[in-house]
Amino acid sequence: MTYQIAIDGPASSGKSTVAKIVADKLNITYIDTGAMYRAVTYFILENEINIEDAESLTKAMSEIDIQFDRNDKRQLIILNNQDVSDDIRSTHVTKHVSAVSAKKIVREKLVAIQQEIATKQSVVMDGRDIGTVVLPQAAYKFYFTADPEVRARRRYDENKEKGILDQSLEELTEEIIRRDHYDMNREISPLKIADDATVIDGTHLTLNEMVEAVLSAVKH
Ligand code: CDP
Repeated sequence: MTYQIAIDGPASSGKSTVAKIVADKLNITYIDTGAMYRAVTYFILENEINIEDAESLTKAMSEIDIQFDRNDKRQLIILNNQDVSDDIRSTHVTKHVSAVSAKKIVREKLVAIQQEIATKQSVVMDGRDIGTVVLPQAAYKFYFTADPEVRARRRYDENKEKGILDQSLEELTEEIIRRDHYDMNREISPLKIADDATVIDGTHLTLNEMVEAVLSAVKH
């Protein structure tokens, strides 16, 4: 029997980090849906697609193939046979990803891929609409949150480690608040807490405590 774990929440709330560890511990697949929206955004920026032009956007979506792969160190995201795992984390992509993700044509294609993956195997999937739209039947649903300052600080440290140094802590905080506002107020599949989700506020929790909170709820 396959089962699904859905983790939603605002930017940099620890979803991906926790989801990866949980997936490893349970030996199931981790799907980073944010990486898929970022890959689409990368393609759109590279090819200078005008997302307000429905015809161009539809054509672009038909040209996009997204796959997950892994090397010995980490999971990779492959866009049309190109490894874009690092490119999709750039500040430029981050600035545009919410506007791209708000488009119906984009969401329809990515949600279909996500649902298809989850029918074949047990998954931990993280994003904004997993418990509400993509996997409403998921056995386990979590909503991660934390104070914006704490989330910005985490992302700042993460970025520093990756060599992304083009934003100050203040700029990152503003950017995170702006993106959350956009994601929570869009028309299609806005970020919100699913009725049956367990809320985990990570403001004062360590990573391990968040992992434990998920694992202790999941009985498999
Ligand atoms: O890792 P971070 O918190 O920066 O965000 P992400 O998970 O990589 O997601 C990037 C963006 O993709 C979000 O701000 C949303 O606009 C969009 N997204 C979405 O609309 N639906 C999802 N299921 C996942 C991400």
